[in-house]
Amino acid sequence: MEVLVAGGIGYIGSHTCVKMIESGMQPIIVDSLLNAKVEVLSRIEALTGKKPIFYQGDIRDEIFLDMVFRSHKIQSVLHFAGLKSVSESVLEPLRYYDNNVNGSLVLIRSMRKAGVKSIVFSSSAVVYGHSDVMPVTESFLTGMTTNPYACTKYIVERCLTDLFASESDWSITLLRYFNPVGAHPSGVIGEDPKGIPSNLMPIITQVAIGRREYLSVFGNDYPTPDGTGIRDYIHIMDLVEGHVVALESISGKSGLRVYNLGTGKGFSVFEMIEIFNQVCGVRIPYQICQRRLGDIAECWANPEKAKHDLGWTAKRSMIEIMEDTWRWQLKNPDGY
Ligand code: NAD
Ligand code: UD1
Repeated sequence: MEVLVAGGIGYIGSHTCVKMIESGMQPIIVDSLLNAKVEVLSRIEALTGKKPIFYQGDIRDEIFLDMVFRSHKIQSVLHFAGLKSVSESVLEPLRYYDNNVNGSLVLIRSMRKAGVKSIVFSSSAVVYGHSDVMPVTESFLTGMTTNPYACTKYIVERCLTDLFASESDWSITLLRYFNPVGAHPSGVIGEDPKGIPSNLMPIITQVAIGRREYLSVFGNDYPTPDGTGIRDYIHIMDLVEGHVVALESISGKSGLRVYNLGTGKGFSVFEMIEIFNQVCGVRIPYQICQRRLGDIAECWANPEKAKHDLGWTAKRSMIEIMEDTWRWQLKNPDGY
């Protein structure tokens, strides 16, 4: 099965391509290299023995996309291509709407012209906004978003939902990720954030390796057992297995499906620091700072729907998450 992987050089896309090749699928990668390095392709080849087909280009370039669809027998699209920083999106909202929303519209239009009507979209738990009830299920209200990044995810979900309402032969899967972390267990590929990372896990490992002095803990006065924020951290390999299972089960089947991809368990910032200390043997110096604007106290998934419909469940432990992240960081102290 040939699958166009938009944004396939990035963190989640690269791990997914490895899993797809191992499962006998052929990824056709389209990536503008906006937030990724071409070196990733050699790493994928080192792991799988196959260099994926790669087209450098922007999904907002319709002529380019039409050419890619004409050149292959693509059956499905995995759509990872997007900008993902909440803080950046607040500073540059138009850039986020253009890249994430306009890019998705161009991609969907090009798919339609090519007769490819199967898409798996990388959405996020941010579409749920704030919720007082945990865990989060797919039926919770969406759209009460608090920043432009989250809004772009919600808008693309709506576009795809409305498209399905008018053309019911589409196969549309919206995957709402909780907090993807970790790396391939080989340490050959992993997360390589450009500039200063804003997510917890890359900061922990950068502190551990000496690239930064300490971790700023954003608030210890939340209504949680230890006062720090609680999140549902999912191992990247579990997350990508969810994509492959989704691809396998939806191929050729029309429908609109929405799944949370999370573990169903939450960990606090202090727990993450402590587990990292114990598993990797490195102490993480930290300072308590003010809460980060827009942060919520806690968020974790109810992943039962994906288990019931797809037979998918996250299997890897927090210990494996820490070990694999640390192995990647030690092998690649400066990233790719
Ligand atoms: P990433 O930045 O590592 O990967 C995204 C890839 O898309 C990059 O390689 C980038 O170069 C490419 N890209 C961006 N805009 C493009 C465009 N217009 N045309 C072509 N290529 C383009 O991010 P990631 O962590 O792998 O995330 C993948 C997707 O999952 C994103 O859409 C993100 O919003 C979503 N998501 C990520 C997380 C997370 O924590 N990583 C959580 C929820 C949702
Ligand atoms: C963030 C994004 C969210 C995105 C998700 C996954 C924000 C407000 N939200 O969510 O849109 O989908 O990443 O990419 O940016 N923390 C610290 N110190 C740090 C970094 C984080 O204490 O330096 C804490 C946070 O307050 C939070 C937890 O660690 O409690 C996890 O933070 P992070 O990794 O940024 O993920 P989210 O906030 O869940």
